[in-house]
Amino acid sequence: MTDTRTTAIEFAHANRPRFLNELMDFASIPSISTDPEAKMDIQKAAEWVAARLTNLNAHNVQILRTDGHPVVYAEMLSAGPDAPTILVYGHYDVQPADPLELWQTGPFTPDVRGDNIFARGITDMKGQVMAVLNAVESVLHAGALPVNLKFMIEGEEEIGSPSLEVFMENHKDLLACDFALNPDTGILDPDIPTITYALRGLAYFELRVFGPDHDLHSGVFGGAVLNPAQALCELIAGMHDANGRIMLPGFYDKVRALKEDERNELARLPINDDFFLRTTGAPGLWGEAGYTSVERVGSRPTLEVNGLLSGFTGEGAKTVLPAWAMAKISTRLVPDQTPDVVYRQMQEYLTTNAPSAVRWTLKEMHGGVPSISDRNSVGNQALTRAMESVWGKRPVYKREGGSVPVVTQFQRILGVESVNTGFALPDDNMHSPNEKMHLPTWHRGIDTFIHFFYNLAE
Ligand code: BES
Ligand code: MN
Repeated sequence: MTDTRTTAIEFAHANRPRFLNELMDFASIPSISTDPEAKMDIQKAAEWVAARLTNLNAHNVQILRTDGHPVVYAEMLSAGPDAPTILVYGHYDVQPADPLELWQTGPFTPDVRGDNIFARGITDMKGQVMAVLNAVESVLHAGALPVNLKFMIEGEEEIGSPSLEVFMENHKDLLACDFALNPDTGILDPDIPTITYALRGLAYFELRVFGPDHDLHSGVFGGAVLNPAQALCELIAGMHDANGRIMLPGFYDKVRALKEDERNELARLPINDDFFLRTTGAPGLWGEAGYTSVERVGSRPTLEVNGLLSGFTGEGAKTVLPAWAMAKISTRLVPDQTPDVVYRQMQEYLTTNAPSAVRWTLKEMHGGVPSISDRNSVGNQALTRAMESVWGKRPVYKREGGSVPVVTQFQRILGVESVNTGFALPDDNMHSPNEKMHLPTWHRGIDTFIHFFYNLAE
């Protein structure tokens, strides 16, 4: 006798070609949240998701307005009050596609090559959203949904979810649930099922340094005024010491020390320095002294220069002493750091260290609070068993270096924990040209969500 679970899995396998076609349709919408020109496409992507949910017979499907891009809401509550209610989170927005010339095929013309499908946002995270919806469709085909589901699919994740906090405060009752499912993370390798139990936070800045009130002849004035590009570089250089520690005053005060048992567990993760060399192509590794690469990325705070701009950068040579210089700088945070405090620490660092021969301004861009969740929650146990069924082995538990700030908002506003999962791979080129998703892993992801929903009802 075939049970409903098997029927659902078989349905998912039989429908892979159609699932792929639908995903390609979704991924062809250039829903770039940071681009003001893309407003129509943002709306189109929201409508696409809403239509797909309506098609699955979801109830109360709404495209809810926020101060920014809309949130798609829907519910499937037929399992009744005794079954758990899970809030499925996702984002339909994507990162910008530039630099365009580095893409082998158009970022919004999804292209299947071998085992991979290439498109902007395919792995981060349109493919992940569709993996959940495909699993839901498969379960519904086999019978009744064993759990209640609510969906909250937003359009501003890639710009720091600026409107989501207010949205969630205003819709607390609508969003009430037992826990959230956040499929916006990844696994370490196609053969290593992975559960993420912590995500780093973020504090992002734009720092501008101003010197003379206009660009100068570098021969006529060089030597008499401080070059803002030089001042900026010296400030940036001073943000780390020789051991790779961050020099903002008080930066480590709130950082929770890694306990010995957690260190031992992270050391068992099947990724080593060779993995980081291979996946990055960097000629060598670098980081805070006293920590392994895995520890540095997941459990220690870091500071990165994301962009630099000043002076003449075109063809040829121009002898100019620029009037200003600008850097985009971000810090990744770990519990219990907060973006507000780090912003003040950055201001204090600049106040103390910036030379009086230049002026500076610091703009606080988006931020997010780091999160850590219980590895043994009911949801994580159900996910562990689901991965065991699909991969035939136990998942590993990792701390993610990337950020999904909504996880902390789920804790604070809704009072619920998140199950963080997703099937992106380290070499999927998230946020880079030629973003891709590995189709065999995607298929396993769909199967995992099917098992997950059934496991939760057991
Ligand atoms: N999906 C990513 C976060 C992520 C990356 C999780 C890699 C697991 C593995 C997410 O969409 C993202 O990129 N978030 C931004 C945060 C933000 C506030 C702009 C990030 O981490 O830079
Ligand atoms: Mn994402």
